Amino acid sequence: MQVSSFLGLIRTDSKVASLWSDLMTPSAAPVLLRVDASPRLEPSVSRRIADAFEAAWIEGRRDGRVVHRDLALQAVPHLQAQTVVGFYTPPEALDDDLRRALVVSDTLIAELQRADTLLISTPMYNFTVPSVLKAWIDQVVRINSTFAYDGTGFSGLVRTRRAVVIAAHGLGGDGAESAGVDFLGPLLRAVFDLIGIKDVTVLSVENTSGPPEVAEPAVAAAIEAARRAAVA
Ligand SMILES: Cc1cc2nc3c(=O)[nH]c(=O)nc-3n(C[C@H](O)[C@H](O)[C@H](O)COP(=O)(O)O)c2cc1C
Repeated sequence: MQVSSFLGLIRTDSKVASLWSDLMTPSAAPVLLRVDASPRLEPSVSRRIADAFEAAWIEGRRDGRVVHRDLALQAVPHLQAQTVVGFYTPPEALDDDLRRALVVSDTLIAELQRADTLLISTPMYNFTVPSVLKAWIDQVVRINSTFAYDGTGFSGLVRTRRAVVIAAHGLGGDGAESAGVDFLGPLLRAVFDLIGIKDVTVLSVENTSGPPEVAEPAVAAAIEAARRAAVA
C-alpha cells in the first residue's frame, strides 16, 4: 500500500480532526480515537453502538475532538519483514528503507498517543477480533515505543488513559457448545495491559444474529450502556 494513500484516507468533518491538524496543533482538548473494525457500514451493530458512545462523549465535552480510524475504509497492512526489523532497530540506526517500513506503525502510534480515550468497535469473528483489527494491534504494539521490557518485566508506554471496546457477538452465552467462546475480550484486555492502558471497559452485545425479539432489546440495552460509559 502507498503510504500517501494510507495517510490520506482519514475522515474529516467539523467534529473529526484530521491526523495532521490533530498532531500538529497540540491542545488541551480531550481527544477520542475511534477505531471501527466491522466491514459492514450501515447495518453494523458495533458501529451503531459506537455512534451512541461517540455522540454522548461529544455531548459531555463540547471542546472534545474525535479522530476516526476506519479499518473497513482503509485496511491497515500486515507487518512486513522490514517492519519487524525496524521495530528492533534503535532509532539512530534506522536507514531510509526502515524508516519507510515504519511509517504506518509510527502514524497509528502517534494517533493513539494523542488520544485520552480509545474507542474500539468490532464484531466477533471466529471467536476473536477480525483480522483487520489484529493488523492494527500488530502495528501499534511495538517494543520501546508502546511497551518496554527491562529483562525482568514489561511496562506500558502509552499515555491514553482509557479504552472502551464495543464488541458485537452474533451468538449468546448458551446454545451451541462454541457459543460462549470468547478470545476477543481477553485478547484486547491483555494488549491494553501490556501497553499501559489500565482503565478498560468491554461492552459486549450478544445474540445480534438472533431473532428480532432477542436481538433488538440486546442492542437497545447496549446503546444505553454505551451512553452511560461515555459520560462516566
Ligand atoms: C465471518 C464471521 C464470523 C463470525 N464469528 C462469530 C463468532 O465466532 N461468534 C459469534 O458470536 N458471532 C460470530 N459472528 C457473528 C457476528 O459477530 C455478528 O453478526 C456481529 O453482529 C457482527 O458485527 P457488526 O454487526 O458490527 O458487523 C460471525 C460473523 C461473521 C460474518
